[in-house]
Amino acid sequence: MFDPTKLDKHISKVLIDPDSIQQRIADLGAEITRDYQGKELVVVCILKGAFLFTSDLCRNIELPQKLDFMAVSSYGDSTRSSGIVKIDKDLSESIQDKHVLIVEDIIDSGLTLSYIVKILMDRQPADIKICVLCNKPSNLQQFVKVDYCGFKLEDEFVVGYGLDFRGYLRNLPYIGVVKDQYR
Ligand code: IMP
Ligand code: MG
Repeated sequence: MFDPTKLDKHISKVLIDPDSIQQRIADLGAEITRDYQGKELVVVCILKGAFLFTSDLCRNIELPQKLDFMAVSSYGDSTRSSGIVKIDKDLSESIQDKHVLIVEDIIDSGLTLSYIVKILMDRQPADIKICVLCNKPSNLQQFVKVDYCGFKLEDEFVVGYGLDFRGYLRNLPYIGVVKDQYR
């Protein structure tokens, strides 16, 4: 039985340790800082999964930036995308003529991000780029252009550093794989 009070008990292996996460984010931040020279950014954090990633990433982007949040749900408690995306919380400011950087935890089927890009494009931003912590390309159903990617992963269900299993395990400091027996 899944027991949320026993964190590490549910992990079969640690895939990415905290230091490696921070090193990769420093590289991504430097790349984004170079690419957006002279521009002002709106960093859009997709809640809840990207909250830790965004907080570390934005501190590694040395540019004027605004931060906004959007919450979407597509999954329920299942570990596969339902394909139906619901906006639970929308952005608080207009993105018209702004340079938007969407920050998401992970791409699996691509359905969630392609939906988000579509609705944000309708608001006429100057441009939209995508930064994901993890990409699981083997399960892609809907093509999404990923501009910045932290880690490419196999098709395994991962948790930690923001990523959840049934709403739990986001607070693990590393990215790990959930034991099969709990899925
Ligand atoms: P997609 O719509 O299939 O691309 O799924 C994207 C969303 O599903 C992400 O925002 C995550 O919240 C969730 N997700 C997909 N794979 C994983 C995983 O391995 N661990 C935790 N959440 C995941
Ligand atoms: Mg999620």
